[in-house]
Parts: sequence; C-alpha cells; structure tokens
Amino acid sequence: MKYGSLIAAAAAAFASTASAAGVVGAAEGFAQGVTGGGNASPVYPTTTAELVSYLGDSQPRVIMLDRTFDFTGTEGTETTSGCAPWGTASQCQVAINLHSWCDNYEASAPKVTVTYDKAGILPITVNSNKSIVGVGSKGVIKGKGLRVVNGAKNVIIQNIAVTDINPKYVWGGDAITVDNSDLVWIDHVTTARIGRQHIVLGTDADNRVTISYSLIDGRSDYSATCNGHHYWGVYLDGNNDMVTLKGNYFYYLSGRMPKVQTNTLLHAVNNLFHNIQGHAFEIGTGGYVLAEGNVFQDVDTVVEAPMNGQLFSSPDTNTNAQCASVFGRSCQLNAFGNSGAMSGSDTSIISRFAGKNIATAHPPTNIAQWTMSNAGQGK
Ligand SMILES: *[C@@H]1O[C@H](CO)[C@@H](O)[C@H](O)[C@H]1NC(C)=O
Repeated sequence: MKYGSLIAAAAAAFASTASAAGVVGAAEGFAQGVTGGGNASPVYPTTTAELVSYLGDSQPRVIMLDRTFDFTGTEGTETTSGCAPWGTASQCQVAINLHSWCDNYEASAPKVTVTYDKAGILPITVNSNKSIVGVGSKGVIKGKGLRVVNGAKNVIIQNIAVTDINPKYVWGGDAITVDNSDLVWIDHVTTARIGRQHIVLGTDADNRVTISYSLIDGRSDYSATCNGHHYWGVYLDGNNDMVTLKGNYFYYLSGRMPKVQTNTLLHAVNNLFHNIQGHAFEIGTGGYVLAEGNVFQDVDTVVEAPMNGQLFSSPDTNTNAQCASVFGRSCQLNAFGNSGAMSGSDTSIISRFAGKNIATAHPPTNIAQWTMSNAGQGK
C-alpha cells in the first residue's frame, strides 16, 4: 500500500490507568512464556547502589523503579584521545579511541580530544529471573545502560526509560545489551540520547527475544550522520537469535534500524518507522527477515543496499497467503508513506517459523496513530 501521509495531525494520548505493582500483560512472539521475577515481592530501590545490587544478585526479583537513577558522574570522567570520522562540525558525533578503534579503523580521521562520563561505558549487569518495571512514567535509568549477558535467562524490562549515555560519543555506551541469553522481553521501554546502540544483541546466541511497544527515540544533538538523527538504532547480531519486534516506534534515526545478520531470524510486525533520514533495515549474511503490517512514513531507504541476507517483505496478498501454512493466517501487507520500497519475496523464510511462537499481526491501517500514542515508557 502506498500513501502520502499515514499520520493524522494530533494523536490524543490515552489516559494512563493505575495498576498493581508488577509486570503488566505477557510477551507475544518468541519470548512468550517469559516470567522474569515471577511472584517475588516487589522491591523499590532508592539508590543507584541498591538498584545495581538487586539487578545483579541471584534472587528472582520484581524491581520497581519509581524515580530517576542517575549514574552520571558516579564513576568520574575520562579525558583521552578520539577521532572524528564524520568531521568536526558541531552536529557530528566523534568516537572515543576505545579498544584502539580509531587507530585500527579510522587512522586517517582527524584526531580530537574527548571527555566522556565513565559510568556510560559498562552497563549494569542483569541476572536471571528479574523483572524491572517502571511505576507510571517515573522509572528512568540515566547515564548507564543494562546488560543481560553471560547466560542470564528469563528477564523482563518493562515501562522504563534509559537515557543520556554519552550521546556525543561513539563507544560512549549502549542502552540495552543482550548477549548469550534466552527469554528476554523488552516492553514499553523508551531509549533516548545514547552514544552507541539503543539496543544490541551480541554475537553469541540470544535465543528467544521479544521487543514490543517500545520507543527508540533517535533525536540527538550529535549524530554519525551529522543531521540530528541517531545512526546506531537496533543491532541484531546472531548465532541463533530469534527476535520479535512488535508495535515499536522507531523515530528520527538514520541507520541500523535494525541491522540484522549472522543467523538471526527476525519477525518485524506492526512497527512504525518514522522520519528515518538514512536507512531502516540493513540485512547482512545470515539475516532472515519477515516484515509484515509495518508502517514506513518518511523513510528515505527502507532496506540498505546491498542486501546480503534474506527477506520476505509480505509483497502482495497472493504471496502473503503462503504464510498460512506455518502462521495459520496470511501475512499482512506493509504500508509506505513517502518512503522507499521494500522488495523481498523469499518465501523460504516462512518455514523457519515452524514450531515457534509467532506474534499476531494487524493490517497497517491505524498502526501509525496507535503506535504514536501507545509505544514507549509511561504508556
Ligand atoms: C531462575 O529460575 C529457574 C526456575 O525457577 C531456576 O531453575 C534457575 O536456577 C534460576 N536462575 C538463577 C540464576 O537463579
């Protein structure tokens, strides 16, 4: 479907309704069945140290965030060398020479001095069997991200914002890292003003992951594309990763939205990609992408060339009917408003979903409006 604009003028936000402490709803798609901290009595950390302790201990926990946990300055700052691969204009990100990245990959880039906040570099470790849940719109982690790694399993991150992690600096820190894990659900999370990736799934097996109704807010004073649009969106690297992206709002980015590769099966369904000045999908070798029911509004390039992976873009109703053999229904068309094209008719991807939990899909009608009102923290 092609339209000029899929977004009406003003979206009335739904009034938020009060709810009991704990996780709301259940994961759809690959992470279906995740329980996090289960029925553990909720705990309410009051300091950054307490938050770190609850997230990293070995108890199943429901951790309620009812305030901002500001890690900025807690580990001091570092002034060191860096480089400016995209130039030194005020809107451009610069890179920290972390792991000699500038020396190894950007040797000809201008050298610069960088001063970054050290807390942003290493995220907070999240252990198995944890639910991290924000209260209303109060749960914020500022200046440091979260990482679910080293075999951590069964984690829910819901209704929080992760913000302000060295946005000027590439290698300044990621918001949410998942690597060598299983059953992770990221839901109604907002990420904003991040140095590197908003969400990154690393090179080890991450198994079953659902990212739903979250807002990746790419607006930033500094960008690798020097245009106010953050480049490093969502990076799904592989080795047996199965990722459901459903109902998310991807706003104002310029790249890797998402980047998918190396044995990663991605179901991208009912997401709104909006105002992407650059590219949305980058699909490398071993990226298997099925995209349906999404809305692309003002997206320059929907799929970056060359496309070295495999893509089923739900191209037309006849072909989409082939989904029924595995999904029990047809796949839904995507909708494009003032956006580039998405072509991919690799129906072999459908069978990769056999025996797995598959999210439901709506037609793209109304998805833009609904997503703007309902995705992200506090919604
Ligand atoms: C998480 O919970 C499961 C199921 O109760 C248990 O088998 C596992 O040992 C727990 N993991 C940790 C690290 O506590």
